[in-house]
Amino acid sequence: MPYTWLNLQSHDAAAQDYLLALIERLSDAQITCCATSGCTLTLNKTQLFLTLAASTFKPFTLDFNAEKHRRKISKNALKNSLLVRACQAHLRPVVWDLTCGWGQDSFVLSSIPTTVISIEQHPIVGLMVHYAHWLLDAPQNWHVEINSAESALKTDQYPRPQVIYLDPMFPVKPKGRLSHKEMQILSTLCPSTLQKTEALLHLSLKQPGIERVVLKYPRKYNPPLKPHHIILGRTIQLCVYHPHGWLG
Ligand SMILES: C[S@@+](CC[C@H](N)C(=O)[O-])C[C@H]1O[C@@H](n2cnc3c(N)ncnc32)[C@H](O)[C@@H]1O
Repeated sequence: MPYTWLNLQSHDAAAQDYLLALIERLSDAQITCCATSGCTLTLNKTQLFLTLAASTFKPFTLDFNAEKHRRKISKNALKNSLLVRACQAHLRPVVWDLTCGWGQDSFVLSSIPTTVISIEQHPIVGLMVHYAHWLLDAPQNWHVEINSAESALKTDQYPRPQVIYLDPMFPVKPKGRLSHKEMQILSTLCPSTLQKTEALLHLSLKQPGIERVVLKYPRKYNPPLKPHHIILGRTIQLCVYHPHGWLG
């Protein structure tokens, strides 16, 4: 077993080969990040589970075929989705989700269907999303890339973004007001990126051909830059920005 953080219990050759091929594409730095993350990935039958050392979390799995995810892409849910509205996904733009996390927002956007390029910097999180994407039979209009947003934007591997979506990490809620398990695991693995959000927002607005940047932000905080308009949710706001000189 070459990786101490990987536990292959599956006899499903296709699942195992796919996961190993993904891992082989990681850089040395990303492999080191996996090894020092305190996580174990376990492949059991066709499910991939993430276990966090020194935590009380039960093994976590990500499967977009599950009912809780399917519900979010029902006709009615998509019609009422603030995210779909903010990204104008019904116009089928190329959307880059630069802070993919568990890919739940990317999954919703890709189901429209529109082209979605999802970028996640943490290799363990990225592997989980990649694998969940494969379990969905790898929809051709959705690509997942394990990379930092800043480097991904420099590549020409994908169609250029017309819409960029940002959902940065926020500091963990004070004790007693715990966010749901998925978010708690992300907060443990990925540090808050609030300070970097403004830089990422400016970088996004400078991308050639960009029509809008959508930033998801807690309602109770002021976003780092004044938006052109805001779509309000119960606890979040979707801040919409247009590039300088936009004539739309
Ligand atoms: C709040 S989560 C996003 C949750 C996501 N919207 C979802 O639906 O699951 C933020 C994620 O952005 C990632 N991230 C933050 N800064 C990044 C960057 N510069 N490049 C790529 N990923 C980044 C973090 O690693 C984290 O997984």
